[in-house]
Amino acid sequence: MLDTILIIEDENLLGSELQRHYLKLGYEVIWLQSYTEAQRKLNSKKFDPSLILSDLNLPDGNGLDLLEEYGPKMSSCEWIFLTGYGDIPDSVRALRLGAFDFLTKPCPLEQLDLVIRSALRSAHAQRRLQEKSKDASQRYALDTFVGNSKAAQQTRQLLQQLSQAPYTALILSGETGTGKGLAARILHYNSSRAKEALIELNCAALPKDLLESELFGHEAGAYTGATSRHRGLIEQANGGTLFLDEIGEMPLDLQAKLLKAIEDRKIRRIGSESEIAVDIQIIAATNRNLQEDINNGSFRADLYHRLSVFELRLPALRERLQDLHQLVPEIIAEFNLKAGKNVSEISPRVWNMLEHYQWPGNVRELRNVLERCVILSTSSSLPEQWLQLQASTAGSNCISSPDTTACDICFPADGSLGLDEMISEIVQTMLKKYDNNVSEVARVLKTTREKIRYRIEKYQLRKSSSQQGEQL
Ligand SMILES: Nc1ncnc2c1ncn2[C@@H]1O[C@H](COP(=O)(O)OP(=O)(O)OP(=O)(O)O)[C@@H](O)[C@H]1O
Ligand SMILES: [Mg+2]
Repeated sequence: MLDTILIIEDENLLGSELQRHYLKLGYEVIWLQSYTEAQRKLNSKKFDPSLILSDLNLPDGNGLDLLEEYGPKMSSCEWIFLTGYGDIPDSVRALRLGAFDFLTKPCPLEQLDLVIRSALRSAHAQRRLQEKSKDASQRYALDTFVGNSKAAQQTRQLLQQLSQAPYTALILSGETGTGKGLAARILHYNSSRAKEALIELNCAALPKDLLESELFGHEAGAYTGATSRHRGLIEQANGGTLFLDEIGEMPLDLQAKLLKAIEDRKIRRIGSESEIAVDIQIIAATNRNLQEDINNGSFRADLYHRLSVFELRLPALRERLQDLHQLVPEIIAEFNLKAGKNVSEISPRVWNMLEHYQWPGNVRELRNVLERCVILSTSSSLPEQWLQLQASTAGSNCISSPDTTACDICFPADGSLGLDEMISEIVQTMLKKYDNNVSEVARVLKTTREKIRYRIEKYQLRKSSSQQGEQL
């Protein structure tokens, strides 16, 4: 996008020279000569300059008043002031109001060019940040938590209320795949903190020592290997939200430190003497029963009570099976788009199977099942063959293809296996079954030899198949 520079300068000679110079450098330049003209221009909704280069003393007003009035509404625009009579209080006021720089006339053009280039870089960075959070705000609008059931409606209502509430901490609980991660994003991106950072940490993913230094940061030399200062995630989330996933996995002593940080609103980096004030809200998620963990001593009751002032339990999919009627078409549409497929029909038999399944892996499992079906579909119907739900409904922890003429393939039914792993397993099993006859495998899987070869390459199945002699 072409950058627009607004020049506000009442001296004819200087104004026209600046305009000519920046037009020549390829910017869109608008030159105005008074406070009132600038006000009129800035009131126009469509006007969105990246930079304002303004004289301080205009015939009908002071450029700093303009910044005070319009600056807060134009967060991706930088202001630079040029003045012949600037004094210290003016420059202090300019910087306090967020001006990028304050230069005294006469200012050599090369110097001005340098300042303008860095101001534009800063404006671009602001713009990118704004667009990112605008995107995320749309991507995580309240209705991305899909479902018309009472439970889903109540969840959305609570998410809406909580996103407007100034809480310091809350707990999201619920089984795996029920949407705790999604709910955390909805809460952040619909709150007044949406423009600030959402920092995520999975407490199960790091060993204890690392977890502490990730959270609280450390000073250089705080321990062996700490070569430089590190700002912890709590500090990085300042002004925004810290999402602590799997909080039940956090070691007890760290739980105590976290509680203190929440209560004092201060942290101390490891190895530091001084405390740093932080303003964060914490969303903690867990699929464990924290009450039980408290009883067996692995979770601190005081931290639980501090976090659980608000607790939102995400309902299991089997408690809201009617939501399948909104979820399934939406998810299929998403994977159709990704895979270039056109699955649009679901037979009554398939609906029946979807509705009589317990969904232990909840919406994540549903997404995995539908992704598999869409990718392996060969017509506009959702293929029953790749649903593979019935064995786990019957209580087994393993599901196999209902089409035993195709092959016997076993997958865990909790949605834990990714699609790539399943496809790789399918192709490998079929190659084994058909003596590495790629054409035969392609025929049985209703696909092309090229696609099977592509998968062999992708999942590095070539070794085992070529060792045994691939047949075409
Ligand atoms: N109500 C819903 N509507 C639409 N999508 C959903 C819903 N609930 C969950 N999802 C989707 O299901 C997937 C799994 O959700 P998510 O990762 O938030 O689950 P989780 O509760 O954090 O699971 P875990 O405990 O395993 O971390 C995500 O892709 C999420 O967007
Ligand atoms: Mg999660």
